[in-house]
Amino acid sequence: MYYVGIDLGTSAVKLLLMREDGKIENVVSREYELSFPQPGWSEQNPEDWYRQTLDGLKKLVHAVDPKEIAGISFGGQMHGLVALDEDDNVIRPAILWNDGRSQEEVVYFNETIGKKVISGYTGNIAFAGFTAPKILWMKKHEPELFAKIKKIMLPKDYLAYKLSGSFSTDYSDASGMLLLDVEHKCWSEPMCELCGITKDILPKLYESYEAVGYLKSEIADSLGMKRDVVIAAGAGDNAAAAVGTGTVGKNKCNISLGTSGTIFITSDCFRVDANNALHAFAHADGKYHLMGCMLSAASCNKWWMDNILKTDRYAEEQKDIVKLGENHVYFLPYLMGERSPWNDPMARGAFVGMGLDTKREDMVQAVLEGVAFATRDMYEAARSAGISLEHSMICGGGAKSPLWQKMIANILNISIDIPNCEEGPGMGGAMLAMVADGKYATVEDAANAIVSVKSTCEPDAELVKKYEERYRSFRKLYPALKDVYGKL
Ligand code: XUL
Repeated sequence: MYYVGIDLGTSAVKLLLMREDGKIENVVSREYELSFPQPGWSEQNPEDWYRQTLDGLKKLVHAVDPKEIAGISFGGQMHGLVALDEDDNVIRPAILWNDGRSQEEVVYFNETIGKKVISGYTGNIAFAGFTAPKILWMKKHEPELFAKIKKIMLPKDYLAYKLSGSFSTDYSDASGMLLLDVEHKCWSEPMCELCGITKDILPKLYESYEAVGYLKSEIADSLGMKRDVVIAAGAGDNAAAAVGTGTVGKNKCNISLGTSGTIFITSDCFRVDANNALHAFAHADGKYHLMGCMLSAASCNKWWMDNILKTDRYAEEQKDIVKLGENHVYFLPYLMGERSPWNDPMARGAFVGMGLDTKREDMVQAVLEGVAFATRDMYEAARSAGISLEHSMICGGGAKSPLWQKMIANILNISIDIPNCEEGPGMGGAMLAMVADGKYATVEDAANAIVSVKSTCEPDAELVKKYEERYRSFRKLYPALKDVYGKL
């Protein structure tokens, strides 16, 4: 049998077709627009997600006999606010995970109500990207639209709703709404009250590997598929990516270099980072994880290559970079503000340290290193929470660059394991569908059977030393610029 994993990303939806032994038969990608109506705002049209997913599915399934497809699931961009009215129409464009408009609401939650109280309700403090502050923003700034809300859901849940009719979500993704009591895996009444909503407009909660329904018969017929294709709840993209890299069980780590960058550490019990720099979320394997998230990771390189250097020759631009640990140029990767560890939507990107001798490749190197240094910031947050790591898996578009892998290994001073497949969230989605369909008893069983390490990038003692010194300087830059950002 075959399974479909849908990775609903920020720039595109990627669909992956996998045989139950893990062999990938086909991958199809469809892009959609991302709009920035004001500086720091970020929106997308949920109908575009669905239209492009259906279009992608049509292409994807014909790599095999569509009747052999048994299940579909998701890894979706997290935190986005999708609001539907009583006729199931989308009320306004979805407000995405990297949208910084709700800073006032964040201050309300974290300062007026208090971090301790909010963290007591949910396990987390408020960040501008989370869903609850956006609901409050809508209540204040768009009261007539807010009054129409009959359903609130996350991006991938909109796809599940359209494909199956099931109004559902999973614990990993729901954790990022700031409406879930993460430890007890139920909606938080006091958080709903603070947002002026009732629980009945929130989706039914499932484990990521549970079936929420079946593909609607008219869609199954139009794609030539069977009528009993299972739809599994799926997970937030980071939890799905963790499944796809075998990061399940206890004290394992996955680093993702996608549009965002994350460090994802598994835990078999619920735990909170006392400094609140890491999110305390549920995992797609039924357990928990801690996660740091930087808002712009591979997107920094994409911006630098596509928009500024105007080239699509990414590998070519990296081939002259040889002097690792000696670059005098620093790049601060805060193009959309920053979440972990600074929680500052006003932060922005910066180059520091150029001279007349600075060359194009120094700037390219600085961009890649800036993202790696910011990953180290998240890793330091994990170390402060008492976590020690020797290894991490890596995935996401950026993980395809051997140079970037090497920088991460040396800047964090840990071994980086490269999996057999970097399609993290899509692969995890397909694996969750397999568990829902009973092919594997647990997510861990599926990971053990399907995921392997292709190669390992080890840190080099001399390079680690050089980078350590440079990281110390990098670490001073954001605090030095913080006041300027507030006035930009
Ligand atoms: C995680 C986060 C991002 C998005 C990207 O908290 O906001 O990683 O999920 O799609």
